[in-house]
Amino acid sequence: MHYERKILITGGAGFIGSHVVRLLATRYPHYHIINLDKLTYAGNLENLRDVEQLPNYTFVRADICDHERMLELLAHYEVDGVVHLAAESHVDRSIRDPFTFARTNVMGTLSLLQACSRVWEQSPEGYRGKLFYHVSTDEVYGALPLDGGMFTEQTSYDPHSPYSASKASSDHFVRAFHDTYGLPIVITNCSNNYGPYQFPEKLIPLFINNIVQGRPLPVYGRGENVRDWLYVEDHARAIDVVLHRGRVGETYNIGGHNEWRNIDLVHLLIETTDRLLGRPVGSSEGLISYVKDRAGHDLRYAIDASKIEQELGWKPSLQFAQGLELTVRWYLEHRDWVEHITSGVYGEYYQSVYG
Ligand code: NAD
Ligand code: TYD
Repeated sequence: MHYERKILITGGAGFIGSHVVRLLATRYPHYHIINLDKLTYAGNLENLRDVEQLPNYTFVRADICDHERMLELLAHYEVDGVVHLAAESHVDRSIRDPFTFARTNVMGTLSLLQACSRVWEQSPEGYRGKLFYHVSTDEVYGALPLDGGMFTEQTSYDPHSPYSASKASSDHFVRAFHDTYGLPIVITNCSNNYGPYQFPEKLIPLFINNIVQGRPLPVYGRGENVRDWLYVEDHARAIDVVLHRGRVGETYNIGGHNEWRNIDLVHLLIETTDRLLGRPVGSSEGLISYVKDRAGHDLRYAIDASKIEQELGWKPSLQFAQGLELTVRWYLEHRDWVEHITSGVYGEYYQSVYG
């Protein structure tokens, strides 16, 4: 089979990656979509059951830190585009285990960059028609005050957690490969995502799960921190747009224009979940439990997404109440998915933390 493009997606068995794989594999049957994932606790092939039979989809289990393997796979599949999502992604874990974050997010990204650079340089057309697309986060910009400001593409980097420091470092390496070797790259920095298939250690799926089970909802500090939430399928659409029309060497911020104080979000989540469970509305309010604040907890994130909106015509499609309702419904209808990934082999980490 001759494919028009061969796109390697790293971290495609994770939360956002699985949505990107699904979108690209179904929308572009003339592309070969290769999903490369190590299948850590956060990567789960059950996220892709509906995709695995597609003829243009291939899964490869590999670690991005394994440089020799990256060289081999890029050459074998004649990859011309990489969408790099593989990472350790949870801030609380990074506080407990920063080394793993440096290994995967920094050294893993470097391993992949160097492999792309080597393999593409040696191809007959060189870097022409190639792209290394690095998926990053708004957390590299640090924290904003409650009373104003937004992150733009010009905002200086100021990461505070080991997670955001490792992502910032990987962003710098990606730009360095562009500036030093001419590697064609593009970077996007996105705000907090929510939606189906998110591992229930992050705020929204963890709290839905706990509401269902009548367990405490651990709100850090006073619940005053603000996050800018985007529905994951909107992020996947943005990645599709940037992959095809983003300008090489550029950075695009992606966000939902949707800022919520954690505690207000928790009230909305309780209301939505209780209603969909047929419980008296607000009956789970008593589960809210204020706990010790996260160390180095960034106060507020907010994205100015006007560059991608104006240049590439992307904008979020869903209102938050709609997206949240879709998400809660999905988690209620996929209790088996939640059970499976929070127990057994996938759940080893989950059990150790949430017991
Ligand atoms: P996730 O933790 O759900 O998934 C990460 C995936 O990477 C998993 O499938 C895991 O198995 C895989 N992986 C981890 N280490 C690997 C390695 N060494 N080699 C190969 N695969 C490996 O993460 P996510 O929330 O889907 O985030 C994906 C990307 O998007 C990350 O780079 C993250 O920094 C970025 N991002 C996430 C958010 C968010 O709100 N979740 C927001 C902005 C940007
Ligand atoms: P999270 O989903 O971990 O994403 P991030 O830290 O990348 O923004 O957390 C979102 C917000 O919710 C953040 O301000 C921390 C807070 N939070 C809690 O209050 N309790 C929790 O149990 C979790 C996981 C997060």
